[in-house]
Order: sequence, then structure tokens, then C-alpha cells
Amino acid sequence: MEINELKQIDKTVKGWLHESRDNVLRKIDTRLEVDTKTSRRDLVTNIDKQNEKFLVGKIREFDPNAQILGEEGFGDQVHSTEGRIWIVDPIDGTMNFVKQRNHFAIMIALYEDGKGLLGYVMDVIGKHLLSGGPDIGVFDNGHPLPQVKDTPLREGLIGLSGPMVLHNDYNMVDIAQQSLGMRIYGSAGIDIISVLRGELVGYISYLKPWDFGAGRILCETAGLKMTTIDGQRLDVLSSTPVLLATRNAHQDILTIVSQ
Ligand code: IPD
Ligand code: CA
Ligand code: CA
Ligand code: CA
Repeated sequence: MEINELKQIDKTVKGWLHESRDNVLRKIDTRLEVDTKTSRRDLVTNIDKQNEKFLVGKIREFDPNAQILGEEGFGDQVHSTEGRIWIVDPIDGTMNFVKQRNHFAIMIALYEDGKGLLGYVMDVIGKHLLSGGPDIGVFDNGHPLPQVKDTPLREGLIGLSGPMVLHNDYNMVDIAQQSLGMRIYGSAGIDIISVLRGELVGYISYLKPWDFGAGRILCETAGLKMTTIDGQRLDVLSSTPVLLATRNAHQDILTIVSQ
């Protein structure tokens, strides 16, 4: 895709995100309708659904021939990475949204034939929008993202998934112990922003395409590594334990995982 076309799409998506954020903020103090999905810790609210409908509507109007993969099911059934695919997580960190009204993100990604073109991760309350892609670079609220330092695990904080720590999956306790400390934020988007901004040296969680699709494009463009937990290439349609880290920390963590 031509750079000018990408920049035009980038401007359009940012417009949707600002509108989407304003819609969420307008309703943030209203009583939420909360439903459980697979368990009592797996929630969806009326705002998740409304926001996905809003974003899917905008994408359909703008790019009618593309496929859309949305967490709450208002998009399409996507089985192949052929052509353009938009991936939407309308509220990432729904539990945080319900219990804290804080620490949640809105995420959008655009792929073409499996290649990431543009990614967007917005911390709604913290007011950070990380955006961009391989052809235009990564931006933090419109400013070029500073080079992320290649910090090793032992010199940084690591973002982990609560359940994976509780079950000590993949030697998660050792990973935490070899770092300077672990953080459990409860939103993949917030963790991804933290890694991009150099506040965390890495992040590990079981993730689905809408959790990592946008972050992967930004992180790879920024020189970070995002793979499966055993270092394999991440397929954009897969659901798997994901390891995101600086190059050094990625190597450190793979060594611990394989012990
Ligand atoms: C979840 C959050 C959480 C992560 C889960 C995700 P959701 O997303 O990002 O931090 O550990 O794997 O499913 O369901 O709140 O959009
Ligand atoms: Ca969910
Ligand atoms: Ca999510
Ligand atoms: Ca979600």
C-alpha cells in the first residue's frame, strides 16, 4: 500500500478512536449491564458491545471489502489471512473497566495478506494513543516513540498474567524472580503500551488475536520481539501464550522457559 494511502487511513482511524473514546467516557458513570461469558471472571458489558458495533460500522463503511475480526462477534467469521483484515478489541481489560473504570484500552489493527500495516492501542483514561506501523513508524500521542532500550530481564519490571503466575506456567515464578519485579495490570493493551514506553521490559500472557494484533505491529516496528512463549512465530489468527519483550529480555525469558 502507498504511504499516502496509509497516512490517510491513519488519520481516519484516529478520528474513529477519538469518537469511540468520547462515547465511552460519556457513559463511564452510568450503570453498566454486565454479563459473564465463559466464567465469572470473563465479562462483557453493554459498552464493550456498543463500542464494537460503532467501530465495526465505521470500518464497514470505509472498507466494505475487508474482513473484520471483533472480540464480541459483531464482525465476521475470519478463517484466512488473505486480503485485508481489521481486528477490533472494543474494551481490553473489561474486568478493570467494570471494577476500576480505569486501566483499559481500545485496540484496532489492520493486516493485509497476513502482514501488519497499522496498529492502535489507546489507554483511554491514561490518555496515551500508541499508533503506527512498519511504513510510517510508531507514535505516542502523535510524537515519534523514542528508541526502546534493549534492557535485559534482570534490569527491568516484567508484566505477567495473574493466572499464569498462580499456576507457575512456563516457570513464571522464576521469570518474576529474575526480574526486578512483576506487575499484573489486567489489560494486554496497558501492558503493551508500558513495554513500548520502556516502563516494562516485557509482558507474558495467554492472548487472542484481538489482544495482540495491534500491539504486535507496533512492537515489531519498535524493534521489540513478540512470539509464542516458546519463541515461535506468532500467527495472527492464533490464541496462544504470547511473549513480548526487548531482544535481550526475550532471550533471557526463553532460557528460563526451556529449563
Ligand atoms: C483480556 C485482558 C487481560 C488478558 C486476557 C485478555 P479482555 O482482554 O487483556 O489482561 O490477560 O488474556 O483476554 O477480555 O478484557 O478484552
Ligand atoms: Ca473479553
Ligand atoms: Ca482483550
Ligand atoms: Ca475486550
